[in-house]
Amino acid sequence: MAKSVTSKPAGAVRPNGKRARAQAAQSDAIDAPGVWQRRHLLDLDDFSAAEIELVLDTADAMKEVLAREVPRVPALRGSTIVTLFYEDSTRTRASFELAGKVLGADVINVSAAGSSVKKGESLLDTVRTLQAIGADVLVMRHYASGAPYLAARESGFHVVNGGDGWHAHPTQALLDAYTIRSRLGDVRGRRIVIVGDIAHSRVARSNLWALTALGAEVVVCGPPTLLPFGLDGSCRDDAEEGSLPPVRVEHDLDRAIEGADVVMALRLQRERQQAGLLPSLREYSRLYQVHGERLARARPGAVVMHPGPMNEGIEISADVAHGARSLIEEQVTNGVAVRMAVLYLLLRGTMERGS
Ligand code: CP
Repeated sequence: MAKSVTSKPAGAVRPNGKRARAQAAQSDAIDAPGVWQRRHLLDLDDFSAAEIELVLDTADAMKEVLAREVPRVPALRGSTIVTLFYEDSTRTRASFELAGKVLGADVINVSAAGSSVKKGESLLDTVRTLQAIGADVLVMRHYASGAPYLAARESGFHVVNGGDGWHAHPTQALLDAYTIRSRLGDVRGRRIVIVGDIAHSRVARSNLWALTALGAEVVVCGPPTLLPFGLDGSCRDDAEEGSLPPVRVEHDLDRAIEGADVVMALRLQRERQQAGLLPSLREYSRLYQVHGERLARARPGAVVMHPGPMNEGIEISADVAHGARSLIEEQVTNGVAVRMAVLYLLLRGTMERGS
């Protein structure tokens, strides 16, 4: 059974179950389904399966809040969340904003493009300024890998990495794991194919950590120029240095997709072609597009995912993207509950803070 937080906040969230749902409908009191030990969410590379499952279980409870007639609880009333984005975003920023508001927090959105960053203010001065306003949580997206670590080290914020360079996008991977668990019942033992530009993808990196920690059989697929060296654990670079968990590598998507439970397509960043990493978009689509004929090789009931934004007709066909097997909209919907869970756990999940 879940442990309660040591000091129960007003208006928290309950774990799944009929009785819990009935109680939750009548009360704002919430039991967290476990104890959280982290001050920040920067990466998933050192997360245990139990920690990831705590987030997913908490997200289940958040889904129940979102299903209420009036989806609002005062769990984070009195807290202020700042989203600070140095890169464009639709899903991540909007879902963090809604997540904070559903939980009763104040939310301030800052885009580098419309802020004093444009006048030359440094990252650290921007972070310190937002802290001086009195905010508690900083959700940050930055083009430089590692930028959220600097903010975490140099400020008093709880920092959430909303995507940094090629490095990590932990809440995307958590919502992906949540979506797989919700639809397929369990992540453990599922064959999950991630296809596309793995080398430059923070979504892929965070998913590799989360899905392997949860016991999935992960297969990555793409042209050799878009895969990190040594990802299969054989030699060199990322995998050798322990910066990515070893997984099965395939260059042939038809072979990779055989027996898959989940096929996750990644956005092809078109500048890769300019950089000489691809012969042509047409060639890439021919070899690596997820389309209906290919999907027929997967297991019956297999599902398709994409973190978005999509290039329909390049990495995924329009009929698959919007077809019966697509969980792409469900991923976006689940992003709100998962980000509510993250905010809640960071601010209320435990009274004893670790790192
Ligand atoms: N998947 C994702 O991070 O989308 P946004 O860039 O729209 O936030």
